[in-house]
Amino acid sequence: MTFITTEARRDRLALPPLDKVPEHVAIIMDGNGRWARQRGLPRSAGHRQGTENLRRIIRAAAEFGVRIVTIYAFSTENWSRPRREVMLLMRILEMVIDRELQELDEEGVQIRHIGELDGIEERLARKVLEACEFTRDNQRLILNVAFNYGGRDEIVQAVQNIVRAGIAAEEITEATINNYMYTSDLPDPDLIIRTSGEFRLSNFLIWQGAYSEIYTTETYWPDFGRSAFYEALVEYGSRRRRFGKTDDQINGEQLKATRVKERTI
Ligand code: FPP
Repeated sequence: MTFITTEARRDRLALPPLDKVPEHVAIIMDGNGRWARQRGLPRSAGHRQGTENLRRIIRAAAEFGVRIVTIYAFSTENWSRPRREVMLLMRILEMVIDRELQELDEEGVQIRHIGELDGIEERLARKVLEACEFTRDNQRLILNVAFNYGGRDEIVQAVQNIVRAGIAAEEITEATINNYMYTSDLPDPDLIIRTSGEFRLSNFLIWQGAYSEIYTTETYWPDFGRSAFYEALVEYGSRRRRFGKTDDQINGEQLKATRVKERTI
């Protein structure tokens, strides 16, 4: 299956065009366990179904024209889950790399890892690095896999590295800190989606998410399919992002941009 991210493709999919497509969508894939419990299944079944859904959403994101997707696959706090579940989540990542890498590569997905590989079993850590290396030239979609990731941990490491680099305190700006984050070369997420009716960031992209729009839904992650994702993008399109400014300022900027555009046509 190939992705064609054009209006023509959207027409063929019989989806109304999206007014505004977020460039970067970050997702907290929550509710796998509850999805399974609801069906009398073990939690592992929820994670497997959640993995299936992840395939759907990556494909949908590329179709809809999203350029960057960041997923929260394993947090630094997830180590406190029962050992069997931790092992399962590690195995799932390994399985995703083994089974999906070829196809993801063919589809132009660039895989990146954000988080700490220290503490991850050596074989898996190597596979993660190889998957990133293998897909590094792909341009259609950047998939950041947050695995063994914690937002506070990321900030602590950034500060440590800034100190190690000998940068003077008065020279440190937001841009300096940004340069030391895992996502230094990427724009901040425009939209953070959290499934399963929770309203927390849970230590996910706490620096980068300062101005992100947040979308939450009651739907559990395994059921948050392509049309639910589309709905989230439509909702995003209707939001007005002000970045701390007033409505009048935003209106003025939009008017100016329209005039410049008209003059250049
Ligand atoms: C949260 O659901 C989900 C996770 C901690 C893991 C998310 C993992 C996947 C969707 C599979 C894809 C994984 C990789 C590694 C690519 P939960 O278990 O907290 O659900 P609950 O809150 O209902 O118990």
